[in-house]
Amino acid sequence: MKDDYIEFIQSVKNKIGIDLHLYKETQMKRRLTTLRNKRGYTSFVSYFEAFSKDSELLNEFTDRLTINVSEFYRNPKRWDVLKDRILPMLIEKNNRLSIWSAACSTGEEPYSLALMAKEYFPKSKIEILATDIDDNVLEKAKQGIYTEQALKELPDILKKKYFAKKGSLYKIEESLKKNITFKKHNLLADRFPKNIDLIVCRNVLIYFTDQAKEKIYQNFSNSLKSDGVLFVGSTEQIFNANKYAFNLAETFFYQKDETLF
Ligand SMILES: C[S@@+](CC[C@H](N)C(=O)[O-])C[C@H]1O[C@@H](n2cnc3c(N)ncnc32)[C@H](O)[C@@H]1O
Repeated sequence: MKDDYIEFIQSVKNKIGIDLHLYKETQMKRRLTTLRNKRGYTSFVSYFEAFSKDSELLNEFTDRLTINVSEFYRNPKRWDVLKDRILPMLIEKNNRLSIWSAACSTGEEPYSLALMAKEYFPKSKIEILATDIDDNVLEKAKQGIYTEQALKELPDILKKKYFAKKGSLYKIEESLKKNITFKKHNLLADRFPKNIDLIVCRNVLIYFTDQAKEKIYQNFSNSLKSDGVLFVGSTEQIFNANKYAFNLAETFFYQKDETLF
């Protein structure tokens, strides 16, 4: 059935612009086969035909493809390092920061940045660009409504201060949206923004092939200002970081050093 999957990959690329060749194949194929079988299709081509005509099936497929679990302060110790070491270092150089939360999913990451900025760096001007490939998650991100589970790592004091509780849901304070711009962006195909001080890109590169990752690291390096920092996920160390002009500033934080070019 290899050809069936190859034909499917091409059709998906034409229909929704996501190139599955650039995602690790074994893992992705396993995820999609489980869903396809659950819906009763025995080939990828017939499954594609079905979701091409059915928006609910298509949404479900896109959801499975994009793997969009997230939470506030995911890996809290790293967020402490961001607050205590990285942000003060960047702010010392420039009180206006451009932050890019790439593959931001439903918004937990950019809002974590926004509330950290408001709570601990109120005198700094911090703008956040929050992007993802998936329109559905961006819509949810703009609403800013979360379950308790998404907030489990957030210190209580911040939870009380920046959320309104309605029933079992938590709504983010409106003012935190002011400095965030949500936008669709495909890390594997679109042009990268420039002059960024801090890129937060976590728990997405693990799904990509090594070749795709290398290109993205280079693009991230080009996006950052001199001395800018890339914050990656807790299983996403960069091997050969120097190749992209990165020095390790702290575990999972890479700082651009132009002398390495
Ligand atoms: C597991 S979530 C990570 C969310 C957040 N960064 C975190 O660490 O909690 C992965 C996100 O990557 C997004 N994604 C997948 N492929 C992408 C691509 N090619 N370009 C941009 N975003 C992508 C998905 O839509 C999903 O929202």
